Amino acid sequence: MKRADEQHERIISELDRRKRKRRKDDDEFKVVEGVIDPPTLKTLYKLLNRGTLSALHGAISTGKEANVYRGEDADGKSVAVKIYRVSTAETDFMLEYIIGDPRFKNVKRRSRSLIPQWATKEYKNLIRYHEAGIRVPKPIDIERNVLVMEFIGDTKTNLPAPMLKNIEIPSPVKTFNEIIRMIENGYTKAGLVHADLSEYNILWLRKPVFIDVSQAVLTTHEYAKKYLFRDIQNITNYFTKLGVDTENPEVITKHILTVGEE
Ligand SMILES: Nc1ncnc2c1ncn2[C@@H]1O[C@H](COP(=O)(O)OP(=O)(O)OP(=O)(O)O)[C@@H](O)[C@H]1O
Ligand SMILES: [Mg+2]
Repeated sequence: MKRADEQHERIISELDRRKRKRRKDDDEFKVVEGVIDPPTLKTLYKLLNRGTLSALHGAISTGKEANVYRGEDADGKSVAVKIYRVSTAETDFMLEYIIGDPRFKNVKRRSRSLIPQWATKEYKNLIRYHEAGIRVPKPIDIERNVLVMEFIGDTKTNLPAPMLKNIEIPSPVKTFNEIIRMIENGYTKAGLVHADLSEYNILWLRKPVFIDVSQAVLTTHEYAKKYLFRDIQNITNYFTKLGVDTENPEVITKHILTVGEE
């Protein structure tokens, strides 16, 4: 047996064992690396019991608000598992993007439900983007602070796709136009503005894929137009640095807003 297969077997049997003697040793649960807090552990068991997950591997990314892990679904296929930190010091910025959203009517600052609502917002936004045909990870499941989605990467080597900022883009002009089209379709077809779009939140898997959509707002949001302009500005700045002769961000924004009103 290959080493990866062995490791896979070991993790699955370990998860099975823990599932059997669940709760006794919650606090010592270690998933390959890093300690997961007991409430999150409980949430992971729920996802395990309903067949969404069968294993959790190492972290792909550790950030301020969330860690992203590679997991496996019931068929052993790679999935991405985004675990939002339950206790984040910085949650106030979230309010600007969630208050007033008709999908989330009961939002309270510093409440225990804010992080699960934030994770649910990412899940719902992924559904909207996905259904509108904009390339994002396909959402799979959500439970409290844990979001499970399609793994964007090489399904054979299980390596995650790189960020746009870390690759040499094969044809920058074409890619720039492609990303602007994704922003436009996001606005007109999904009814969303990403609101944190940059070369950091676009992965490259032969084509661009938008990620990190928790802060994305409906086009009816008070600041939707401001965020749209900011996204377009970030993208034009980046591609200008790469030598692409981009259209003026104001002109692009106006065009999208006009198309959106038709
Ligand atoms: N579906 C996915 N498939 C593969 N890799 C992913 C996926 N989603 C996220 N990643 C990886 O995890 C990283 C962080 O994800 P994301 O941008 O969604 O989190 P984040 O909110 O920026 O976290 P933080 O802001 O706390 O650093 C990405 O840059 C990417 O490398
Ligand atoms: Mg990010």
